[in-house]
Amino acid sequence: MRRAKISVIGAGNVGATCAHWAAAKELGDVVLLDIPDKEGVAKGKALDLLCCGPIERFDSMVTGTSDYRDIAGSDVVILTAGLPRKPGMSRDDLIQTNVKIVKSVSEQIREHAPESIVIVVSNPLDAMVYTAWKATGFPTNRILGQAGALDVARFRTFIAMEIGCSIEDVSALLLGGHGDDMVPLPRYTSVHGIPVSQLLSKEKIDACVERAKVGGGEIVKLMGTSAYYAPASGSVQMAEAIIKDKKRIIPCAAYCENEYGVAPGQKGKGYFVGAPCVLGAGGMEKVIEIDLDAGEKKLMDESVSHVKDLVKVVREMFPELA
Ligand code: LAC
Repeated sequence: MRRAKISVIGAGNVGATCAHWAAAKELGDVVLLDIPDKEGVAKGKALDLLCCGPIERFDSMVTGTSDYRDIAGSDVVILTAGLPRKPGMSRDDLIQTNVKIVKSVSEQIREHAPESIVIVVSNPLDAMVYTAWKATGFPTNRILGQAGALDVARFRTFIAMEIGCSIEDVSALLLGGHGDDMVPLPRYTSVHGIPVSQLLSKEKIDACVERAKVGGGEIVKLMGTSAYYAPASGSVQMAEAIIKDKKRIIPCAAYCENEYGVAPGQKGKGYFVGAPCVLGAGGMEKVIEIDLDAGEKKLMDESVSHVKDLVKVVREMFPELA
């Protein structure tokens, strides 16, 4: 059987950790790419990781490069390039710099890995997925953003900590953009089938929701830069679902038009927002629509409207991406 190939663009904290998880799970061969100035970092981290193989028992090849020709034939490309947050910054503050980086990386992906499925991780996430979509010209099933996998993992972690139960038993759902107005859904959260509302008070659930929403910022404050273990773990969870054609249901930033009333009837004019998706060999195979009550719908609409404002900034900077 042919081994899968995963290319990770950006050999910083998130990129290198994606390479780490992907190699450790033996998902396939991994290429870690950075700009020519950082080629040594990409090569050094790749070699360091490769030498874990005998200990961790993986046969994945891990190579570092600054040459985009090395991503040819990738099944999945994880795009992590761009600046991370510093304390006091919101994800949105990164847009001016990161849109230029994500646009130029996407053009290289279009040229060198035209059949790949792209998972965007750079922030502000929802606007960067849009940028990658326009700049690659890929069909919407082959462009995804990693956000919900991480955000829902944070939400599940806080719920499990509050209950004192295994994280494995907590199942949850979350919608919307990857901003502080993301929409965790307690009504769709359960612990081995038991609605969370039967196990925790409303106050405690609300506290978990709030902590999940600002979970990225909590980490930036603590360590002075963006989180990377869980963002990378979420990205590789998505890559695994695609490479193994698992048909997993994972919340992702996915292209929506009629779904969730994002851009009803506006063909080709949709946006990427967080929604539960089926991930398999076809990439984003289906957006699943769930019923929302009036309160949830209002929060979702607010989050979507924030995503639209961010995309407006992208379109103003690069009219060709409109
Ligand atoms: C976070 C960043 C990666 O949420 O957006 O930690």
